[in-house]
Amino acid sequence: MKICVIGTGYVGLATAAVFAELGNDVVAADMDKGKIDNLNKGIMPIFEPGLKEIVERNAKHNRLHFTHDNKAAIKHGDVIFICVGTPPKDNWETELLYVENVAKEIASVIDSYKVIVHKSTVPVETGDKIRSVIKQHLKHEIEFDVVSNPEFLREGTAIKDTLEPDRIVIGSESDRASEVMKKLYSHIKAPIIITDIRSAELIKHASNSFLATKISFINALGQICERTGADVEKVAEGMGLDKRIGRAFLNAGIGYGGSCFPKDIQAFINISKNLGYDFSILKATHDINESQSKQYIDKVKKYLGDVHGKTIGVLGLSFKPNTDDMRFAPSIPIIEALQREGAIIRAYDPEAMGKAGQLLKIQFCKSPYDAAADADALLTLTEWNEFKRLDLRKIKSLLKNPLIIDGRNIYSLEEMKKHGFHYISIGRKEITP
Ligand code: UDX
Repeated sequence: MKICVIGTGYVGLATAAVFAELGNDVVAADMDKGKIDNLNKGIMPIFEPGLKEIVERNAKHNRLHFTHDNKAAIKHGDVIFICVGTPPKDNWETELLYVENVAKEIASVIDSYKVIVHKSTVPVETGDKIRSVIKQHLKHEIEFDVVSNPEFLREGTAIKDTLEPDRIVIGSESDRASEVMKKLYSHIKAPIIITDIRSAELIKHASNSFLATKISFINALGQICERTGADVEKVAEGMGLDKRIGRAFLNAGIGYGGSCFPKDIQAFINISKNLGYDFSILKATHDINESQSKQYIDKVKKYLGDVHGKTIGVLGLSFKPNTDDMRFAPSIPIIEALQREGAIIRAYDPEAMGKAGQLLKIQFCKSPYDAAADADALLTLTEWNEFKRLDLRKIKSLLKNPLIIDGRNIYSLEEMKKHGFHYISIGRKEITP
């Protein structure tokens, strides 16, 4: 099939690469010429395991092309995926300008039947908006259908999630478009659910909101565990074995970040408000998440005392492991708060130091050991596998003070006890040397 993908962010790139891998003829476009030039040279705009390989392979086989000419890409595709950004406005409403601009471009170019698919996370009823913008700007009467096909990929596993999704959601109100979409996904083994467009749009916001609520729930439980001497990891394990609950997304920590959850939860609160419903549970999800980093900062101050002039080693900056993405990373408010109080921050992250350098004025280190050297405390803010395998004896010998304040519950209490650390984590007992 001839496919056009507009927007080469996480969603667009993964979509383009995977559909090319499945044998389709894909043209992906982005208005950022530098990005397209780089992609044409095999330089990826983001760190994502497996992305470079799949892009290069499909480009080599002529199934994947990149252009900064949206209109040329639109002309090429029988199916047009809109994967442009939907960033939050200052009031947390979703900015749909980029989606609308693409809709206008589509209207100005198409001359035969097209299936226009929106994949970005958007407010319910965006499909209707796209349809009416296209209708308004069409030069001649041309048949087209709008489909909502939300993307559920996670950063760090984007390619795998796109090739092996838990489900494929197709919001379509035309049999012709549904058939095209089913054919397109026929090589992917996953249940397909076909709904009306609005339900499909809601499935995306509902899923992200539910997952974020799960995280905030376990974080709130962590507070209760800390006050009672219980262990949040054990509580999560016990809860998670109930098939109705499941263990995933019950990891307590300094809260969720990234380009999706913070903005999607706020947007959904806003959308609900505009529809006349106060989605109070989501407000609590957001508030608990905000308070996680504040509680963590208080912990650092409690155990380190006055942080002024103290050197703090930080392991992990990205909002989660296996990505260099710093968007809404909890490390940012934590580091900034400690710096405001005069702490000297020395940080290491396997992938995110480049992007972090544009946001934070801190010292970057060449290894976790370098970050620990002579530090008054070591903070772990992202659970990279690399940090789970550290030589803890060496870390202890390098630290000025054997204090670890773990924001991601990376280490076991037994291990920390054995090595003689003063160890503070989330929702678990304090370990003293
Ligand atoms: C998320 C959704 O999972 C994905 O379906 C959607 O399309 C986009 O948003 P992503 O932002 O890549 O994906 O990250 P995810 O792995 O879901 O983690 C989100 C945040 O929650 C991270 O900051 C992570 O550290 C945090 N998290 C996750 C927890 O704090 N505890 C958990 O148990 C799980």
